[in-house]
Amino acid sequence: MFTNAILLGLLFTYLQRFVIMRRLQVSILYRLDIFKSQSLGYKTSVYALSGQVRSLYSYAMNFNDKVIFVTGGSSGIGAAIAVKFAAHGAKVAIVGRNETKLKNVSVECERSGSKPLIIIADVARDGDADKAISATITHFGKIDVLVNNAGITGYSSIVTNDTMVLFDRIMSVNLRAAVYITHLTVPYLIETKGNIINVSSIASTCALSKGHYAYCTSKAALDHFSRCIALELAPKGVRVNTVNPGPVKTDFVENMRTLNAYSDDVWEKLKTIMPLKRIGNSEEIADLVIFVASDNAGSVTGSSFFSDNGSLVRGAFE
Ligand SMILES: NC(=O)c1ccc[n+]([C@@H]2O[C@H](COP(=O)([O-])OP(=O)(O)OC[C@H]3O[C@@H](n4cnc5c(N)ncnc54)[C@H](OP(=O)(O)O)[C@@H]3O)[C@@H](O)[C@H]2O)c1
Repeated sequence: MFTNAILLGLLFTYLQRFVIMRRLQVSILYRLDIFKSQSLGYKTSVYALSGQVRSLYSYAMNFNDKVIFVTGGSSGIGAAIAVKFAAHGAKVAIVGRNETKLKNVSVECERSGSKPLIIIADVARDGDADKAISATITHFGKIDVLVNNAGITGYSSIVTNDTMVLFDRIMSVNLRAAVYITHLTVPYLIETKGNIINVSSIASTCALSKGHYAYCTSKAALDHFSRCIALELAPKGVRVNTVNPGPVKTDFVENMRTLNAYSDDVWEKLKTIMPLKRIGNSEEIADLVIFVASDNAGSVTGSSFFSDNGSLVRGAFE
């Protein structure tokens, strides 16, 4: 009788704590959104919360001593992901080919948390990927979260001479590299009961616009790969999810210019056709990645999270 009463008491306390935490999460995420839309910025919004709420929020999003491996960490969305994880107490490894950009991101990470491990590597080369993972294990001893974010795009018709060159190039970075790096990382993620976030795109679910077949195909495959691997790894305690942005102003279009020309005002034009009349920014995509990687999303696997200012509701961009 006495034991039953104690057990009931413990159960009640646990349920009460769970409900309080859930309510806090909803209210905090809501408030962060309101503050952001008022252009006050992430830090300001967090500091605006009361001390008690703030400490519970940090507890739920605690990445202290977690090791995060981010491909494409030299620029745009990947850079923002690296900086945010560092701000949440994580140790970060950032991978890219551009050393200057990686060093700039390193300074930002150090400012917000700790100095990251910089790895100069082309993820489409198996040898580089091997070295990147072993360098991270040598340096940090483990990996808790893998973020396959490196990506490229390009514009081509299915009937032009460069069709297969472009297709192979995009698939090698956007899909094959993610598959190979996942293959290399999974043994470490099983040890840490970690998780994988694949940065996909709204292009995975729609034929974005004419000439983007290779990019759209690569992202659709990345989503499906993620679901299949989520099923395989669930019994091992490893979660796998995708974050799918709509248009986000980064160096993405600029980098694409080596492949094809795009007009300078592409971002401004995109804003006008978005249902919310805005385009995304790297920080809000990073916030979503942090949430999905955190224990708050402990029951989430095989899912895709879209952040697209309503572009999928609207349909194709043309
Ligand atoms: N911006 C958007 O509108 C948008 C929308 C939906 C989805 N996305 C996705 O978001 C991800 C990040 O894109 P972003 O917008 O941040 O573009 P970005 O600024 O061009 O960044 C792309 C990143 O990928 C890295 N990368 C590309 N090829 C690589 C390779 N072979 N080896 C190693 N790193 C490589 C680049 O690093 P280096 O140049 O240093 O090699 C860079 O850090 C991509 O997967 C993209 O498909 C972007």
